[in-house]
Amino acid sequence: MPKMVRAAVLVSGGGSNLGAILKAKTAGKLPHVEIILVLSSRSDAYAIERARSHEIACVVVEPKQFPTDQAFQTAILETLVKSRPDVICLAGYVKKIGPGIIERFRGRILNIHPALLPKYGGPGMYGRFVHEAVLKAGEKESGCSVHLVDEEFDHGRVLAQAKVPVLPNDTPELLAARVLEQEHLLYPKMVREFCEKLMAGGVTS
Ligand code: GRF
Repeated sequence: MPKMVRAAVLVSGGGSNLGAILKAKTAGKLPHVEIILVLSSRSDAYAIERARSHEIACVVVEPKQFPTDQAFQTAILETLVKSRPDVICLAGYVKKIGPGIIERFRGRILNIHPALLPKYGGPGMYGRFVHEAVLKAGEKESGCSVHLVDEEFDHGRVLAQAKVPVLPNDTPELLAARVLEQEHLLYPKMVREFCEKLMAGGVTS
């Protein structure tokens, strides 16, 4: 049984969920998790600053550096394989995870999505679009989901959810902020639980 679970975090933007994971680590709430790599698909992602301020190795792999998506996916896979993660956490990572990466790390890739899956997931359902759709449908509640990643967007097994009410006069921004607050609690908790199961040999793909 490994002493520490090696986690790579993939980001594309602000990285507030990465921030929540780093905060939990600093607070001693992720004692068996070592964040060994932050990989960003954008060179201007604020998440990079967060990683550097915690002295975590950070690599930028941008699609525009490559002639094809296949070449981009290969570069991501090679970077990941080199850093030997036990678990991969997507945290606001907007690119699709290619089949080669899924195949190599199946059952060990987690994502957090700002809705109660299976509702409001899939292609085009990201950021503001999710919350707009929830409001448009007149939902009484929304929330976030931590799920395993498979070949389809937002499709893998849901591991945990946190709910929030949809309030009268909500805007996509207000709802997003309420959901995000829950994301920052749920994701570090689930990363911890998942890694503890990995250590105990209880996670199967
Ligand atoms: C979050 O709502 C998350 O659910 C989604 O991307 C959004 C931004 O995340 N995957 P972050 O602030 O970059 O962590």
